[in-house]
Amino acid sequence: MHFRRMAGRAIRPAACALVALSAAIGLRAMPPAEARTMPVAHPEVDAADRSGTTIRQEPPTSGSIRTWVRYPPVPAHLSARASLGKRIFFDASLSSSGRMSCASCHSPAHAYGPPNGLAVQRGGADLRQAGTRAVPSLRYLTFTPLFSRHLYTPASEDSEDEGPAGGFTRDGAAASLHRQAAMPLLHANEMANPDEQAVVAKMRHGTYAQAFKRVFGPTVFRHPHRAFDDAGLALEAFQTEDPSFHPYTSKFDAALSGHARLTLKEMRGYALFNNPRKGNCAKCHVDTPGPGGRPPAFTDYAFAALGVPRNPAIPANRDPAYFDLGLCGPYRHDLAHETGYCGMFKTPTLRNVATRKVFFHNGRFHRLEDVMHFYVERDIRPWKWYPQVAGRTVAFDDLPARYRRNVDRVDAPMDRSPGEKPALSEAEIRDVIAFLQTLNDGYSATAGGPGAGKP
Ligand code: HEC
Ligand code: HEC
Repeated sequence: MHFRRMAGRAIRPAACALVALSAAIGLRAMPPAEARTMPVAHPEVDAADRSGTTIRQEPPTSGSIRTWVRYPPVPAHLSARASLGKRIFFDASLSSSGRMSCASCHSPAHAYGPPNGLAVQRGGADLRQAGTRAVPSLRYLTFTPLFSRHLYTPASEDSEDEGPAGGFTRDGAAASLHRQAAMPLLHANEMANPDEQAVVAKMRHGTYAQAFKRVFGPTVFRHPHRAFDDAGLALEAFQTEDPSFHPYTSKFDAALSGHARLTLKEMRGYALFNNPRKGNCAKCHVDTPGPGGRPPAFTDYAFAALGVPRNPAIPANRDPAYFDLGLCGPYRHDLAHETGYCGMFKTPTLRNVATRKVFFHNGRFHRLEDVMHFYVERDIRPWKWYPQVAGRTVAFDDLPARYRRNVDRVDAPMDRSPGEKPALSEAEIRDVIAFLQTLNDGYSATAGGPGAGKP
């Protein structure tokens, strides 16, 4: 297969935008001695430096990354459909237990991610049925493209095939936010309703039945299938309209719009995040503005197999024959025969990632430090991450042996062999984490606005 993701090209087209962006960053203004020891944001920035840009004499203590970004305007009020969706989102009576709403797993106080550090949440009628995947944040999903097996991005000459990309949930199986809503309402490990009729019957007798009729018509409850779909549309409207799902109030956003300066440590982390030979994170977690000045999403929505170690904390994993293969099953069936996709999961946004207590699709890690060490040590010290069987390390143990070759081994920092130097030193890892922390919402009161007194 010749996806760009797999071919391991170091520089993505978005990097062109990065040159312009980097033109503004403090790194370029470094005095020469310090500049030599500093990681460079991008080789092309390096080239620009050599072409005789004036160098400031004072070493900066912080850096400006101001660029052109257009933040979405905050709606004056929610539409009737979105307000209804909000009531549905927080309605625990829609679960068979009567105690679980969407917000139980997607907590508004935790960037609509899990409220705790559990790898998987428990649901069902008795709230004891364990799920199989870590709860993702529902923030910043709005620009998720439709699932496609071949996402083409315009590059300098030809279009580049990124491979599969887009769609909702970690395997891209849901085509839209409203289709996605049906899954938790009916899933046995989640809200566990037996069927659509059961959900609609509850809404029909619930506190917002009148609002439901006002939005979707007086006869809506006569057609349970339609009413069920309409509930999904209302949930979609809530997630799309309500600014709490895309606040853009991080320090990074404030810095992009010129209302904050990143500290030198955060700037170093940002440069490492972008540097294709160091973190290379921006290759997949894109940090440059999108079309029309759209703020960076920190994902390209594409899929990759990272070979995250198996997580014994997931009850389903007690069965050695059970594997979560992402794109090729067990929840998605249409790509079951595309064995080259087995083990691939969607790249999540990194906005608010530093507020999470559980990382990756299987919730295997609980600290960002561990995630970072996994990225840089997976291939150079595999024995640290994978079990030993008969004296041999079983790398990529959460995949059946025949699919282990799908794991990305070409993109830095995952392109090394045992004994080689890690792509990032301990100090550099701390810098990248400092940068990731600038992606937490809540720094400013308005999108891209000045800080509200927090560091
Ligand atoms: C028991 C916990 C739980 C409940 C309750 C729950 N979810 Fe989720 N949600 C998850 C998990 C786990 C995933 C990831 C599923 C996957 O990848 O297969 C997810 C994924 C999603 C996604 C896709 C996110 C993405 O990155 O594409 C959306 C949207 C979503 N949920 C919305 C909802 C809505 C709306 C409700 C209420 C109707 C809800 N969820 C209830 C656990 C839950
Ligand atoms: C080749 C593409 C690629 C590169 C390069 C990459 N990532 Fe990821 N990242 C992913 C994918 C795909 C996932 C989800 C994997 C999974 O769940 O199994 C992910 C998940 C994560 C997560 C967990 C997020 C969550 O909500 O659970 C963090 C944190 C993260 N990446 C940070 C980084 C950092 C920092 C770098 C650079 C050192 C980096 N990534 C480089 C593709 C990439």
